[in-house]
Amino acid sequence: MPYYRVVGEVPRKRHVQFRRPDGGLYAEELMGEEGFSSDSSLLYHRHLPTAIVKAEAVTPTVGARLEANLPLSPRHFRTQELSSAGDLVTGRMLLAGNGDVRLSYAVSDRPSELYRDSMGDECVYVQRGTVRFESAYGVIEAGEGDYVVIPTGTIHRWVPDGQVSVLVIEAGGHIRPPKRYLSQHGQFLEHAPYCERDLRAPAEPFVVEGEEVPVLVRTRGGLTRLVYRNHPFDVVGWDGCLYPFAFNINDFEPIVKKTHAPPPVHQTFEGPGFVVCSFCPRPLDYHPEAVPIPYNHHNVDSDEFMFYAGGDYSARKGSGIDVGSVSLHPAGFTHGPQPGAVEAVIEAVGRGVTTTSEMAVMVDTFRPLDLGPAALSCEDPAYAWTWAR
Ligand SMILES: [Fe+2]
Repeated sequence: MPYYRVVGEVPRKRHVQFRRPDGGLYAEELMGEEGFSSDSSLLYHRHLPTAIVKAEAVTPTVGARLEANLPLSPRHFRTQELSSAGDLVTGRMLLAGNGDVRLSYAVSDRPSELYRDSMGDECVYVQRGTVRFESAYGVIEAGEGDYVVIPTGTIHRWVPDGQVSVLVIEAGGHIRPPKRYLSQHGQFLEHAPYCERDLRAPAEPFVVEGEEVPVLVRTRGGLTRLVYRNHPFDVVGWDGCLYPFAFNINDFEPIVKKTHAPPPVHQTFEGPGFVVCSFCPRPLDYHPEAVPIPYNHHNVDSDEFMFYAGGDYSARKGSGIDVGSVSLHPAGFTHGPQPGAVEAVIEAVGRGVTTTSEMAVMVDTFRPLDLGPAALSCEDPAYAWTWAR
């Protein structure tokens, strides 16, 4: 994250002796990106963060095999039909992915075990329900519409309050606000559709006592379960610019033009090889002769993965797409509004409609997305032909 935060107790200077009430030393840990050359935080542990007592290989319980999108076609997946076994980590149902990013859906009402993704940052979008995100940095209470962004290597767990459904974006690097929203020193600029005040981060330390605590660790080689001698949630204070945070999609301030604005105005985050955009309720384009839904487009360098999170999506009327659906419009295919949608929205504007209630999360990838087993199990095979009806 681009700005500094301090939580709990930290010593006045970094890398000096910092003592517990019993006179012993707290253990300082630096969590930092890009080899000491980017954002970092210093965390102060009651116990050594290096003390592990066991390491065991873990066989994934869910299918993770991806298949190429062949024959090439636009796809519609109905996540409404998916039910998961497991928690918000082990119960992830793989929808799509490539060498840069994996996109999964999960539904669960049970707490996850402690988890660390060492391959990249994660962004978990809460579609429905409320869930407590617990981490070594502290706690974030998350609810519907929240993106929770978790830096690489953060030990955390998910504790749902009832049933929760989420879309999970697993990056192969770091997820950040788009550079063009930030000053050269990292402050959000006035034209950005959100700013620091919209971000929620842990406000106080979260300390849990425990011994022999297992942590599931995801690495490029697979899954490992490391058993820590002491509970990793033993941080009495931390400071820095690297920490998990939440941002609610309803705090995104849509940018509206007189005629149709393309998805970069909806951009929320960027990661290596992809961007995340938030389509939010907003006024319709207001030129008297505007066509206030997208024109047909072929974004030749992107695959477009769109998760329909809520509201009413005029451009897709008649396609079978509903809340909970995912459309995948790959490079190599020109996509656009469903037949009759343009006429219908112009007619609605004529009746006085001035807003759209659509709510969607879009992940545009710069390399083709392959298809996961969960997506193929809930595909609507008729979708590809709906423009030709
Ligand atoms: Fe599109």
